[in-house]
Amino acid sequence: MQKLEVLGANKLKGIVNISGSKNASLPILAATLLSNKKIYLKNLPKVKDIETMINLLKSMGSQIKFDKKDLIINNSKQNKKFASYNLVKTMRAGILVLGPLLAKFGNAKVSLPGGCAIGTRPVDIHLQALSKLGVKYKISQGYVHAAAPKGLIGSKIHFPKISVGATENLIIAASLAKGISILSNCAIEPEIKDLVNFLKKMGCKLKWIAKRSIKIIGVNHLNEASYSVMFDRIEAGTYLIAAAITEGSLKIKNVKPQVIKTEIDILKKIGAKIKVKKSEIHIEGRKKIKSTNLKTAPWPGLATDLQAQMMVLLCKANKKSVIQENIFENRFMHVAELNRMGAKILIKGNRAIIDGNTKFAAAELMATDLRASVSLVLAALTTKGKSLINRIYHLDRGYENIEKKLKKIGAKIRRVN
Ligand code: EPZ
Repeated sequence: MQKLEVLGANKLKGIVNISGSKNASLPILAATLLSNKKIYLKNLPKVKDIETMINLLKSMGSQIKFDKKDLIINNSKQNKKFASYNLVKTMRAGILVLGPLLAKFGNAKVSLPGGCAIGTRPVDIHLQALSKLGVKYKISQGYVHAAAPKGLIGSKIHFPKISVGATENLIIAASLAKGISILSNCAIEPEIKDLVNFLKKMGCKLKWIAKRSIKIIGVNHLNEASYSVMFDRIEAGTYLIAAAITEGSLKIKNVKPQVIKTEIDILKKIGAKIKVKKSEIHIEGRKKIKSTNLKTAPWPGLATDLQAQMMVLLCKANKKSVIQENIFENRFMHVAELNRMGAKILIKGNRAIIDGNTKFAAAELMATDLRASVSLVLAALTTKGKSLINRIYHLDRGYENIEKKLKKIGAKIRRVN
């Protein structure tokens, strides 16, 4: 089992090139199932979840090859409608193949994702919404057995709760449904906008008709398409926080600052000096980190995927702060590990009360989920001494070349077996 050894504390200085977005790439890869034409995808991050999704598509008959960094997908011979548990269990976004399989073939057998450290990850909203398009489904032995005997029929769908995955599944499925669909109370994360832009490139007819409503006219013909996925805003936010917490000075490149305005404003408020350019963000951390109270929310609110990282930063703040986690029911797994490093964080329901002025002590730590694991790396970077982080396969799911990128900006970090 690999571990990460981090020797702190030092200030991070230099340039970070942000990779493509994992959470934009996953629905876009699933959406390629709609088409029998060649598709070229650029800027996909080299992370485990993307590899898993590619293996899932290949297991269903997709022909996929890499041309240098680009991916070329041809689904003309893709004919399997079965997504197995052993692939979906490690990457819950596997459920995103359900919509496209139903749209293309009218039936599918897809493993339920199962839970993970941050929550039970139900898919009831996906399934209820798909049934509005004419899908009949039953759940047995951990699989969704779904069929649309008359094909998918466009319909009006109002999501009972904002769900990124359900919005993505339905946007993809409705793109080939007969007739018009209007989806309302959609999630509008930037990754969903990226998916819509990709679908349009393939010839789908989609139009945002209100902030959280989209109109989709089903088509039955798609074109060959090439698309470059957007930057990873969570990776970018993580490195911004790394600069703020280590009093570092970083130039974050290949980004659209507007997309992470909420997080940039928070970091300015706690005292970091930030300058934004067209596709770069320059950040200088300050010795004094001011406390603040935060709440996670659907975009454009504070990203839940940056909650753990913000918590580490607020441990170093000058006073007490409170973070309220409103998206997932169990997304404080990093708290116990941070407290083992000397933090004083008290959990009350979905709120974490964080004492400031923490002097972290190096320790051996356990990563529990993707974003919690990177928060432990951030804490270790600001701590004198050698910390060891176990179960870093969580990290590898969503951060491309994290040691290489951190080493390049001055971190003393290495992977040990
Ligand atoms: C996506 O997960 C992201 N994953 C998550 O990032 C991210 O944290 C989350 O959106 C919120 O932004 C990908 O894009 C691959 P949801 P998703 O459906 O789609 C409940 C990371 O670290 N819900 O918006 O699963 C659900 O339990 C990952 O990269 C239902 O109740 O999130 C949660 O409490 C972690 N029923 C809330 O809604 C459903 O059918 C939001 O979930 C679906 C969701």
